[in-house]
Amino acid sequence: MRITTIGCGTMGGALSRRLSSKNLLTLFDRDPLKASSLATEIGAGAAPSLTKAIEGAEIVLLAIKPKDLEALAKEMLPHLAKETLVISILAGISVNTLERFFPKQPVLRIMPNLAVTCEKGIIGVVEPSDMSERFHEKIKELFGCMGLLIFLPENKIDALTAIAASAPAFVFHCVEAMTEGGIFLGFPAELSLEIILQVFEGAIALLRETKEHPAALKWKVASPGGTTIEGLKVLEEQKVHYALIQALQATYLKATSIL
Ligand SMILES: NC(=O)c1ccc[n+]([C@@H]2O[C@H](COP(=O)([O-])OP(=O)(O)OC[C@H]3O[C@@H](n4cnc5c(N)ncnc54)[C@H](OP(=O)(O)O)[C@@H]3O)[C@@H](O)[C@H]2O)c1
Repeated sequence: MRITTIGCGTMGGALSRRLSSKNLLTLFDRDPLKASSLATEIGAGAAPSLTKAIEGAEIVLLAIKPKDLEALAKEMLPHLAKETLVISILAGISVNTLERFFPKQPVLRIMPNLAVTCEKGIIGVVEPSDMSERFHEKIKELFGCMGLLIFLPENKIDALTAIAASAPAFVFHCVEAMTEGGIFLGFPAELSLEIILQVFEGAIALLRETKEHPAALKWKVASPGGTTIEGLKVLEEQKVHYALIQALQATYLKATSIL
């Protein structure tokens, strides 16, 4: 398919890298250097202008910040073909808003996370009211190779933004903190990070393979009166469990109040 990505930052770049293997990609960013260097990296084309970028595109993938949408849509509209599918990954921008900005085009709202980069992503897709089997297949073909595809009603997408799109940042935060804990205990930074990464991978493998409840596995590690329960007590005292729930809720609330 002929796909144009508008916005070649973190997420536009991540999705374009994956999409470029099976599609004809054109890239556009208001910083031409960003588009051209990504285009060279992935064997795509870089368009010199927005008009050129969207000319002949079957799909336009919007990967800009929500605050830039209105101005961009106004600039795009006169040049956008009626049949071009507009796919938005913008947090907090509803299908209604997209339809207001692109009244003649079909629109689709998706919410990916950065792990699409390594095929371990989550891609939430707001189910269009008239989704046909063919359209369903097309979405699977485009994004299925990037990770777990979840079709969901729009009233769940802001929650997914919190627990899937933003959540990797919380995991990185935990990994960083635990790595620093290792440094504090005398391990060189690189080794400490390697150990913590293996801990995360091992813990996830255990959860998946045993299918046990996280608390049951936690109790297996924490022997009575032992070392682990001392650490768990500190996590409780510091309300880490509560803080993580609050962090997801704050993220969700922000997603519901954009625009
Ligand atoms: N990052 C994530 O993990 C993630 C996950 C899910 C969804 N999202 C969504 O993805 C979108 C992009 O996020 P991001 O993190 O990739 O942002 P980003 O790294 O800032 O990338 C956005 C890019 O778009 C460019 N841009 C802005 N307005 C433009 C315009 N009118 N024409 C062409 N290019 C334009 C920006 O240029 P300037 O730098 O000059 O502004 C920047 O290069 C956001 O709406 C966000 O909600 C992000």
